[in-house]
Amino acid sequence: MTAPTPGPGPTEWGEPRVGVGPWAEEHPGTPVPQDPRYDPELLAGGDRRNVVDAYRYWRREAIIADIDARRHPLHIAIENFGHDANIGTVVRTANAFAAAAVHIIGRRRWNRRGAMVTDRYQHLLHHADVAAAVAWARERGLAVVAVDNVPGSVPLEATRLPRETMLLFGQEGPGVTPAARAGADLTVSIAQYGSTRSINAGVAAGIAMHAWVREHADPRSAW
Ligand SMILES: C[S@@+](CC[C@H](N)C(=O)[O-])C[C@H]1O[C@@H](n2cnc3c(N)ncnc32)[C@H](O)[C@@H]1O
Repeated sequence: MTAPTPGPGPTEWGEPRVGVGPWAEEHPGTPVPQDPRYDPELLAGGDRRNVVDAYRYWRREAIIADIDARRHPLHIAIENFGHDANIGTVVRTANAFAAAAVHIIGRRRWNRRGAMVTDRYQHLLHHADVAAAVAWARERGLAVVAVDNVPGSVPLEATRLPRETMLLFGQEGPGVTPAARAGADLTVSIAQYGSTRSINAGVAAGIAMHAWVREHADPRSAW
């Protein structure tokens, strides 16, 4: 028996053009919306941004305000004492889950490439060190949950995450600092079964954020 000839795969599909063209082309004969959330430039020239369809042609400020109205009490903190390229990924995922804010601890500069411009719609705060980030969280009644597979951590799979919380991630290499572990209410680990000591920090952040989403977010209000 001969194997069927495979059809074109994702890499042969070509680059589809993201977004929509000018309003007049997309909606011929319909009046241009007068809603102040719409951006006249985008209406005239098209909207090629990587945003959900509901936000097509919207001004950036209007999109942020709309997400602000329904952000989750989930804060994401990541230590940035080296040059960790994962922070962009963390910001993008935090944006997807409507996290309240992403907190960068340590260096102010971080590699924005992986964020794919989602940082424009995400509240970002900076703290000089872990103590400042933990104090910020405590003042707002947030539980601080460090995420790393270190001695003393409890399995994420068997732990209930607090609703009002700050999930705190470490960097490639050193992992969460002793200061972060000491300042956290608890440390959770993601179960692993293979040979590697750890998974990528951006992937770990996605898993932990989604664990929070499964517990506390309402799937009926997702896009
Ligand atoms: C690549 S890890 C480095 C540290 C790790 N403890 C080690 O021994 O290699 C970088 C970050 O990703 C997250 N991470 C990676 N694997 C994890 C796991 N299995 N459980 C929880 N967090 C993990 C943590 O936030 C950690 O600080």
